[in-house]
Amino acid sequence: MLMSTFVQARARTVYSRIRAAAACTAAARGEDRGGRKEQTKLDAPPNIDSLTLARPLDAVPIALMSRRLVEAGLPTWAWTSRRVARHVHDPDSVVLAARRGEEVTGFAIMGFGDEAAHLNLLAVEPRCRRAGLGTRLVRWLEESARIAGTFEVSLEVRATNAAARGFYKALGYAEVDLLPGYYDRIEDAIRMTRDLRALRIDQPG
Ligand SMILES: CC(C)(COP(=O)(O)OP(=O)(O)OC[C@H]1O[C@@H](n2cnc3c(N)ncnc32)[C@H](O)[C@@H]1OP(=O)(O)O)[C@@H](O)C(=O)NCCC(=O)NCCS
Repeated sequence: MLMSTFVQARARTVYSRIRAAAACTAAARGEDRGGRKEQTKLDAPPNIDSLTLARPLDAVPIALMSRRLVEAGLPTWAWTSRRVARHVHDPDSVVLAARRGEEVTGFAIMGFGDEAAHLNLLAVEPRCRRAGLGTRLVRWLEESARIAGTFEVSLEVRATNAAARGFYKALGYAEVDLLPGYYDRIEDAIRMTRDLRALRIDQPG
């Protein structure tokens, strides 16, 4: 009973810390937590994707994008809409959606722990790539982690995904481990990490 009270109290602390950090990051970009944008000079032009915390209804398009863009060819659909929805509600997770109008054009899911944050999933629609959107999604979450006092970010990527490995390297991630058979025992993963401590607060990434 005592332990469960402790766990609930800790969960509430982490929840408010992460949500406050996410809200703070959103505010810095002229967005509010409900996804509405304040009308300021910082507003992006209409063809630029806005970043907002995902809503429960976004779980379906995000899961479909994961299956099509991240998990293609794997026997198991790991990131179903039910699992994504759990992360939308999880106090220790942030699901970030990029939108053009109502369409979800990209997303990223990060779990936050006391010592490290884990980038679970990231994808950008093919027609929206190489325009900096993947970088914006990752930097937004890194900034939230940093504000929350979590300075290490880790992730796993399919060993055959040369494009994503190139992308993460370009963002300062180092390949630190090979995990044989990590995906359904048929494909290896590469673990990559980035230490955010080296960054100055005024450095864009
Ligand atoms: C990986 C991914 C998210 C990158 O998104 P993006 O919006 O195209 O990325 P950016 O435009 O921010 O790219 C930033 C830099 O990363 C590197 N990069 C991006 N795509 C790359 C590719 N296909 N090959 C090599 N380097 C790449 C480049 O240095 C790029 O800068 P540049 O365009 O000025 O050369 C996108 O390719 C994707 O959704 N892939 C499928 C899903 C996936 O693999 N997710 C990651 C594993 S969970």
